[in-house]
Order: sequence, then C-alpha cells, then structure tokens
Amino acid sequence: MKALQCVELGLPDKLKVNEIADPELLPGHVLIENKAASVNFPDVLMIQGLYQFQPELPFTPGGESAGEVLAIGDDVKDIQVGDRVFAMTGLGAFAEKIVVHENTVMKIPDTMDFETAAALPMTYGTSLYALKQRAELKEGETLLVLGAAGGVGLATVELGKAMGARVIAAASTQDKIDLCIAHGADEGFIYESGKLDKNQQKELSSKIKELTGGMGANVVYDPIGDNYSEPCIRATAWDGRYLVIGFAAGEIPKIPINLALLKGMKIVGVFWGAWVGMHPDENRNNFEELFKLHSEGKINPEVSDSFSLNDGALAIAHLMDRKAKGKVIIKI
Ligand SMILES: NC(=O)c1ccc[n+]([C@@H]2O[C@H](COP(=O)([O-])OP(=O)(O)OC[C@H]3O[C@@H](n4cnc5c(N)ncnc54)[C@H](OP(=O)(O)O)[C@@H]3O)[C@@H](O)[C@H]2O)c1
Repeated sequence: MKALQCVELGLPDKLKVNEIADPELLPGHVLIENKAASVNFPDVLMIQGLYQFQPELPFTPGGESAGEVLAIGDDVKDIQVGDRVFAMTGLGAFAEKIVVHENTVMKIPDTMDFETAAALPMTYGTSLYALKQRAELKEGETLLVLGAAGGVGLATVELGKAMGARVIAAASTQDKIDLCIAHGADEGFIYESGKLDKNQQKELSSKIKELTGGMGANVVYDPIGDNYSEPCIRATAWDGRYLVIGFAAGEIPKIPINLALLKGMKIVGVFWGAWVGMHPDENRNNFEELFKLHSEGKINPEVSDSFSLNDGALAIAHLMDRKAKGKVIIKI
C-alpha cells in the first residue's frame, strides 16, 4: 500500500510517499481502508522530532482518519466489516490502510461524509472535553478563544456557542476573524502575529478587558502559548478558568503564579489523549453528543483545503505555515 513516510526528521519536504507492506490484522483490531485523514499540529511537531512522544524512524504520521472497515480481528465486539468509521490513530493515518484497536474506532452517522468525520475527532474531542469536563463552561459566560480559526480553535468557537457562551475570537488576520464570526463567534479581534513586546502584551490584555466590560473573560482557551498566555491570564475574570491547550506559537510560557491567587482563578491543564485512555466511555458519550450537535447543524467542521496522499507533505506544510483555516484534509 501507499503511505506518506517520515524517513528522516525535518521539515515536510523530507517526507516521502513509499510503497510499504499492508499492516497485519491483530486480535481486537480492525483493518480500515482510509478514505480521508486530517492534519493536526502534533504531525508538524512529530516529523521534526519535537513532539512529547517520538516514534522510531521510519514512521507514517497521521493522528486520525475515516474510512470503511475491510476486516476485523478475533474478539472484536462492536465493529463489523463494511462499517463506516473514524479512527483516533495517533500515528499511521496518512496511508491507504491502517490497523487500529477497536477501542479507538467509532461508527459514524450515515449522513456524515468521510472528510467531515476525519476532521472531527481530535479537534472537537479536545475542545468538548476542555469546555465541558475541564472548564465547566456555563451558559452566559464569556469564552475567549486564541488561534480561533485553527483546528481546535474553530471547534471551540462552535462548541462555546452551542453551550450558550458569549464567544470572543482572537486570531492573526481579518479573514480568520471573519471565518470565526461565520461559525458563530459573537465578536473578534486581531492580535499581532510575531513575538509580542511588553507594550503589545499590555494592549492584548486591555483589548480583552475592553470587550468584557473590564471584568476579563470567564474562560480562556489557549492553544498558542508563548508570550500570548500571560496577558490573557491577566485579563481572566475572578473565578475564571484558563485552559492550557498547546504552544503553537513556540515557547512554553512561565507564568507568575500569584496571578492565580489574585484572581481566584484556575490554570487548568487539558490533555485529551491521556484522558481518552483513562475514560473511554466518557469520551464515547462526548462523541455521541458531537454527532447530535452535528445532526442539529450546531457544529460544522470547516475543511479549508484538501490534498491528495501524493501531496500529503504540502498539507502538513500548509498547517505549519499558518495558512490553514479549520482543518486540512488528505483525501486517500
Ligand atoms: N491539549 C490537548 O489535548 C491538545 C489536543 C489537540 C491539539 N493540541 C494543541 O493545540 C495546538 C493547536 O493545534 P491545531 O491542530 O488546532 O493547530 P492549527 O490548526 O495549526 O491551529 C493553530 C493556530 O495557532 C496560531 N498560531 C500562532 N502562532 C503560530 C505559529 N508560530 N505557527 C503556527 N500557528 C500559530 C494560528 O492562528 P493565528 O495565525 O490566527 O495566530 C493557528 O491557526 C497545538 O499546539 C496542538 O499541539 C492540544
């Protein structure tokens, strides 16, 4: 079968499309013919050797896919040949076929196409867990989303709105803000896209306070980190929750911990993948909720660009170059 492979660590142009052996079916596992896979920021980090866990070379990146089940191993209980599914693969999705444990697979609704299904698991899974289980977002609260037109960002905009929050989207360009408004954000603002100096950090805090009547945001969703984080924490409301999602802007920030004391606020870590391993049933319930929200038209995963498997390296570069809006898909 054909697979996009990382044979040496580096930028996407080092990736190769190779013919490799079909994966072997194991007990408890299913063989899926992938129809679409989606790109996530961890793929960008993993091919460069910068992610928190690192597979041995050569490896096939790709954390999620959707397709049809071709075969099932012994002891598989809930999945049948021919089922339309998505899979939370972690690795290996940028290939024609994949073998994964049935626990990481979910049947998708008949009305959901493969591109949408491939775009859903990691971003909406992370964001629903973050807003519901971690932040306990309440109706009427203000939710600030940074990197709001990115994968997890746009999912959060939609979910925040569906949960009855007032959503403020923050991103680097006006067309990204426009997309967030089209997906339900109540308002938005542009932040500086380079390293923020002290004045720009103060301006970021002031802007958030201005948009929240001086109170600050009740919940901040931060997938970008670096020196965007502290100004946002300074503009978090009393009793607020600041969600640590990721560090797409580069550095892992160091935060003066007295800010949490002064604001009676919580700095809340979100590690969706680890939680899924510990609470698979709750995660499945979350996905049932996401399918329902999708069928009601309350969430609509945005796929801004799609690439063929042969051009898979370009798909990863597109995300890395900050050009993606919503999700980037590889059609297989
Ligand atoms: N904690 C978890 O469980 C979990 C789960 C999934 C993902 N994540 C993390 O969430 C983050 C976002 O993932 P994603 O898949 O949504 O990525 P994405 O689609 O690329 O979105 C990231 C956004 O970050 C912003 N950004 C700011 N500085 C950037 C820079 N220097 N390079 C690239 N983007 C930059 C961009 O928006 P602007 O141009 O508007 O600034 C971009 O839209 C990653 O750090 C990822 O590891 C965490």
